[in-house]
Amino acid sequence: MVKRRALLGAGIIGAVALVASLSIAAAGSAGTAGTASPTAVAVSAQNIKPPAVANAAAIKKKFGGRSITFLGDGPVGKSHTRDVNLVKKFSQDTGIKVKLVPHPVNSSASYSQLARTFSANSSAFDVVMVDVIYTGAFAPYLYNLGRVLRKEAKLHSKGIILNDTVRGKLVAMPWFGDFGILYYRTDLLKKYGYSAPPKTWAQLGAMAQKIQDGERANNDNFYGFVYQGNAYEGLTCDALEWLASSGGGQFIDGGKVTINNPRAAAMLNLQRSWVGKITPRGVTTYEEGEAEKAFTAGNAAFMRNWPYAYAIGQEGPIKGKFDVTTLPRTGANAPVGTVGGWQLAVSSFSKQPGAAVELVRYLTSPAVERYNAIFNSNVPTIPAVAKLAAVRKVNPWLKPEIAGVKRVTRPSRYLGTKYNQGSTIIYQGVSQILNGQDANNVLPGVAQRLQRALPG
Ligand code: GLC
Repeated sequence: MVKRRALLGAGIIGAVALVASLSIAAAGSAGTAGTASPTAVAVSAQNIKPPAVANAAAIKKKFGGRSITFLGDGPVGKSHTRDVNLVKKFSQDTGIKVKLVPHPVNSSASYSQLARTFSANSSAFDVVMVDVIYTGAFAPYLYNLGRVLRKEAKLHSKGIILNDTVRGKLVAMPWFGDFGILYYRTDLLKKYGYSAPPKTWAQLGAMAQKIQDGERANNDNFYGFVYQGNAYEGLTCDALEWLASSGGGQFIDGGKVTINNPRAAAMLNLQRSWVGKITPRGVTTYEEGEAEKAFTAGNAAFMRNWPYAYAIGQEGPIKGKFDVTTLPRTGANAPVGTVGGWQLAVSSFSKQPGAAVELVRYLTSPAVERYNAIFNSNVPTIPAVAKLAAVRKVNPWLKPEIAGVKRVTRPSRYLGTKYNQGSTIIYQGVSQILNGQDANNVLPGVAQRLQRALPG
């Protein structure tokens, strides 16, 4: 009991500070580091190389020849390729052999995989990726990085470090951040007479309909709007944005379950009314990858996704034809973006914690965060990296008017180790609504179940 209260307490502080520090870091002014001279070739996703490992000779002497397994990113966008490139460089420089295993792309499935692994006391994975909402739940199984990476941790946003510190133990290091943004086709807005992207959800609906009606003449697969509608963690993220930007709360507010309210119901019913009309019918099975593929192939006018998709858009048929902005709102409410992001942790069952820590040290270093931001448009968790001119140049979502958006956090601070259970209740309810049920009939039951899941 005492332990649990401590865990939840740490979570509350972490989540609040997380929002504050992310917004501040992202809204900072552009630095000069990384500015190319007139003759130099600008650094880009196409020419950037994984950085060298610092102190490689000393690491090699100590750990060269050891083998570790890294449970890395799933094949969404260029994330797995990013891991392949970085791991190869790390192994070349240090002599530490790394087996790279991609985790499931669906965050809820990734949670289940880690839960199974840890509850079996398995040493199958030495370094693991942990979603920002799960550091509390997995803390008992994670190695304390506080002593070995104290200096490095100081470089990262304080809020994320707090989120990753459970009962005084730094259980994970920030790897990259995330927040929800709206992608839109600049060429199509122009073609259909719009001078700016939508500010409200109602405007998005009307614009999506008009553009879709016009584009269908040449493209049967064209839709107005795509997002993450499958019943999984991604839907909790999207639904949080719909509600919080419409005065419908954040599922649980001030420790009280608030999801059953008229504004939340109205917004969810609006989204339901769009399914199969301005969104594909199959949007209720879409995760990040499906939405990104539809948009980057040129088959959608608007997309809700995380910044990683920006890099993919730059490499395909919509290059030069899209831009990003904050997600829409309802009425006078502020636009919002759900806080996401991933951490790297060392399993406490690892038989090679020393070599595993070196991989985490490398992957969460400023040089690698710069690489990730330029190669894969990943959100830096080190404010100094977010300010680099070379990073800003290829990532327009770092502009203060976008990155300074109000960040909203999922209710992990209230649900603690029950977060996965609570989020499952939320996304299953929202999924029922998107699949046709009236939100007014679904939300009372969701609220009751969520109440039962709330610890003491
Ligand atoms: C992204 C976010 C993560 C979130 C997931 C949901 O990976 O970084 O925090 O849980 O999307 O699909």
